[in-house]
Amino acid sequence: MKKSKVCVVTGASKGIGNAIAKRLNSDGYHSVAVDINEPDDDDFKSADGITFIKCDVTNEEEVHKLFSSVISDFGSVDVLVNNAGIIRDNMIWNMPEQDFDNVINVNLKGTWLMCKAASGLMKEKGSGCIINIASRAWLGNAGQTNYAASKAGVVALTRVLSLELGRYGIAVNAVAPGLIDTPMTRKLPAEVLEKLILAQPTRKIGLPEDVAHAVSFLADSRTSFINGQVIYVDGGKSVASNMV
Ligand SMILES: NC(=O)c1ccc[n+]([C@@H]2O[C@H](COP(=O)([O-])OP(=O)(O)OC[C@H]3O[C@@H](n4cnc5c(N)ncnc54)[C@H](O)[C@@H]3O)[C@@H](O)[C@H]2O)c1
Repeated sequence: MKKSKVCVVTGASKGIGNAIAKRLNSDGYHSVAVDINEPDDDDFKSADGITFIKCDVTNEEEVHKLFSSVISDFGSVDVLVNNAGIIRDNMIWNMPEQDFDNVINVNLKGTWLMCKAASGLMKEKGSGCIINIASRAWLGNAGQTNYAASKAGVVALTRVLSLELGRYGIAVNAVAPGLIDTPMTRKLPAEVLEKLILAQPTRKIGLPEDVAHAVSFLADSRTSFINGQVIYVDGGKSVASNMV
């Protein structure tokens, strides 16, 4: 069945983005799931109300093609969720320049390119909602100069866009997850992950669905007066970083 509202979610083949695409679909959106890699889950790819489109968010030409096909197939973009992101952790003295560039390119420039393309369409329509997935790490995490800087950039981009786009009926907010159980965090060595979990106020790792729930809240038209904000979904970790 064709749904009248359309969302575009990047990095949706797995992890948090996958949970967001599913959640918004169950909220009544047609979810356009965007990723550089195909989803492993065939059920997700063939689900009613979900369309997968392959696109690298760092490539402006691919981003333009993506929105052209979304408009021709579905007519509009109501919600954009910029979730695609990567980590390449290391202390600064061990971090190759390429790992700095790649993280900034995907996490910050990719978000900017997607916002630029979608906001033009939302501006014409006079409504829209953009939700950028930042990270609690923007407040500071040793070993993540590249990642924390990229996410601080995402927060700044979100705040500026809320000022530029508010008058066109477009709300722009960020969700900043803490430690969430996804393929990204499952790549961490077990002892590192265990230490990180013990450093959480809740002594728990969050679930992708916890983040999807906050996105669903911000995507709801009843919360459209929330603009330019960062909502933490981190079990309270942002309150104090020296928890032991
Ligand atoms: N997992 C956590 O603990 C955590 C915490 C805070 C913030 N985040 C943020 O949440 C978002 C999702 O994280 P996750 O843990 O689900 O990661 P993940 O690695 O499990 O999934 C990320 C997805 O993004 C896709 N992607 C990467 N580069 C892309 C590109 N150039 N174009 C399109 N898609 C691309 C990947 O293919 C992958 O499917 C990221 O922005 C991440 O920084 C995650």
